Amino acid sequence: MTNEQLISIAMDAMKRAYCPYSEFRVGAALITKTGKVFTGCNIENASFGATVCAERTAIFKAVSEGFVNFQKIAIVSDSCDATYPCGICLQVMNEFMPDGSIVLVDKFGSVIERRVSEFLPYAFSEVDNGKEK
Ligand code: THU
Repeated sequence: MTNEQLISIAMDAMKRAYCPYSEFRVGAALITKTGKVFTGCNIENASFGATVCAERTAIFKAVSEGFVNFQKIAIVSDSCDATYPCGICLQVMNEFMPDGSIVLVDKFGSVIERRVSEFLPYAFSEVDNGKEK
């Protein structure tokens, strides 16, 4: 699957964003290492902290279906700029796609592709938790 195809699937998912509070629509589409695609949108809540980002929606859908190894995730929003994932989503990506990549589109339509490890070079891990040295 091309980056453009994954972005187009993310754009479809973005239409389902539930964002009455921010009115900021985000869509995500991830592809597993076995080639299966999962989508997500942001889902907000009146209690703002209960909001879930589009990326985590897609990842949690995949994990709950038994897929835990991802190669790539595309993220789009209705902003004309690239939407960079938040820190919590990056930490979740590090768990399931530490060697994977993130695909974004900037306001000129150019595709930006970077490794998860480039966005979060010092991710928290079990090693940091003192369980392993
Ligand atoms: N949001 C995402 O879904 N993904 C991101 O990478 C950044 C932020 C959502 C959360 C909230 O619904 C809205 O965008 C505004 O923060």
